[in-house]
Amino acid sequence: MTKVSPSILSADFSRLGDEIRRLESSGADWTHVDVMDGMFVPNITIGPSVIKAVRGCTDLPFDVHLMIQRPERYVDDFINAGADYLTVHPEAEGNVEETLKKITDGGARPGMSVNPETDVHVLDKFLDKLDLVLIMTVHPGFGGQKFIPSGLDKIKYVREWADAHNPKLEISVDGGINRDTGKKCVDAGAGVLAAGSALFSLDDMASEIKLWQGFGPDP
Ligand code: DX5
Ligand code: ZN
Repeated sequence: MTKVSPSILSADFSRLGDEIRRLESSGADWTHVDVMDGMFVPNITIGPSVIKAVRGCTDLPFDVHLMIQRPERYVDDFINAGADYLTVHPEAEGNVEETLKKITDGGARPGMSVNPETDVHVLDKFLDKLDLVLIMTVHPGFGGQKFIPSGLDKIKYVREWADAHNPKLEISVDGGINRDTGKKCVDAGAGVLAAGSALFSLDDMASEIKLWQGFGPDP
């Protein structure tokens, strides 16, 4: 079954707790939290204090996507706030190896994400240390952008590696995901779909999540 991780970037922030309860009652598997610092990406969103404030609204894992420079400075704060997965970018400033170790030592699950223009092979030397790979199919910073299909080959590459070395590696995709692009990503080997606008714009999020969860690789 494909996992669905709704991105609260597209939620109504004035009712964030209710929105998180809504995604859980709609059958979501994880909650995707986009953290932006106005430096690595042009936008600024939320930090550990907001995550801590809403952590009690759901038992679902918090899949926290750090789009920030030098994320090692905040790893402990995010873990203390209740992050389960912490995903960092190799394009950001900082020492990736040390950051991943800090995440693991702190008891959270380490993830890495690559931007659309980044060669997927930058992940090679880290893959065996990861629980999650997040392939970006938009330029990070904003919700509601159009899917960039170059991510599909990256998903295939990571899926082949995972099948051979670590079938438990979670392969997620983020950006411009809807029922059409999401199906293509799952066919390419993704197991988690992170999506904001295509889910939060719906009155009936539950039916859409159920449809996506039914996607499987072509027989
Ligand atoms: C983009 C974020 C995404 C964003 C996706 O920088 O990482 O998680 O919320 O939004 P949609 O699904 O609207 O493209
Ligand atoms: Zn994201």
